[in-house]
Amino acid sequence: MAAPTQRKRILVTGGIGYIGSHTVVLLVEAGWDVTIIDNLANSSEICLDRISAITKKPEAVKFENCDLRDYNAIDKVFKEASAVSTPAFHMTIHFAAMKAVGESRQIPLTYYDNNISGSVNLLRVMDAYNCKRIIFSSSCTVYGSVAKSPLSEDSPVGEGLTNAYATTKYMMETILRDLYSCYPEWTIIILRYFNPVGAHPSGLIGEDPRGVPNCILPYLLQVLVGRRDKLTVFGSDYPTRDGTCIRDYIHVMDVAQGHIDALNWVDKVRAERPSDSKQGMLDVFNFGTGNGTTVFELIHAMEKAAGRPVPHVVGARRDGDLDSAYANPAKAANVLGWHCKNSIEQICTDAWNWQSKNPSGYDTVEK
Ligand code: UD1
Repeated sequence: MAAPTQRKRILVTGGIGYIGSHTVVLLVEAGWDVTIIDNLANSSEICLDRISAITKKPEAVKFENCDLRDYNAIDKVFKEASAVSTPAFHMTIHFAAMKAVGESRQIPLTYYDNNISGSVNLLRVMDAYNCKRIIFSSSCTVYGSVAKSPLSEDSPVGEGLTNAYATTKYMMETILRDLYSCYPEWTIIILRYFNPVGAHPSGLIGEDPRGVPNCILPYLLQVLVGRRDKLTVFGSDYPTRDGTCIRDYIHVMDVAQGHIDALNWVDKVRAERPSDSKQGMLDVFNFGTGNGTTVFELIHAMEKAAGRPVPHVVGARRDGDLDSAYANPAKAANVLGWHCKNSIEQICTDAWNWQSKNPSGYDTVEK
């Protein structure tokens, strides 16, 4: 009798969060089964229905409401998965983390607990179940204030970090490097995102931060739908072309596609090795467009997409802001074959489509 074909399953932590949900859609569309671990701290279960509405494959996604700080809860997820397939998960894509810079200065221990202890728990369980492949969400914030743009993967990291959030990302990169140097059978891909923005073109999923948004685009969108009076531009006296800060805004669908490309690349590299090879790999990639956009340019692009003005005033500089941060994305292009497809105009069109259809995010009541 032929053995039953085993469908391969990917574990996605933070899978109903902003970048996680967009990545889950692409994973399901690529034919993967997905188990999502999410503690709903900054996400909504409604997102699961929206993912199903896009993919039309509700059976492909399993949701576990579970906190990474709870070792036994993660262990249970792995135990159940290992009862139906070996290994339990083909790969883990680890998005789950707290990510508000300002908040991380107020409650650093909570950030270390979630982002470090939670991640170490996850790695310990992965190790126990012999699931030793992980794609880790890092951030361009690890480049700190010392490295100069365009930032490439070999630019200095860890110097001039100004908040606990940045430190947690840098520490996790260090922990993963330590792990790999002791146990080279691990496969570890570190992805440093620049400024992910935009939404799925359907307008069914997008960014829905709890409380006052820290990042500019969700704030700007809430101004456009009347939830906030005006945007304050944090400083217009920077040494840039119009005096406002430059960032590398990247469409969330391009970020999500990068995970699929990284996953496929890992599988291709492994397939080319002898079948008995135990060798893993560790690599790091920037996910940015390579193009910088100023705050004023972003406002104007958004006004054009929405067809209405963005009320804004110029205020004081925000502590710790860099005048300019953008990527050199050449390595991801050359190695993974990954290229950003979406312009800043497309980003604004898709972001507006999401926010205008869901003015209160996932809490929007359909009329
Ligand atoms: C953000 C994140 C950081 C993450 C990085 C890369 C926050 C606060 N920062 O930082 O964690 O590592 O992206 O993904 O979550 N601005 C305004 N008015 C506003 C908000 C922002 O003018 O109300 C300006 C800022 O001064 C900055 C630009 O907009 O020049 C972008 O700010 P933000 O969206 O917070 O991104 P980063 O500072 O790059």
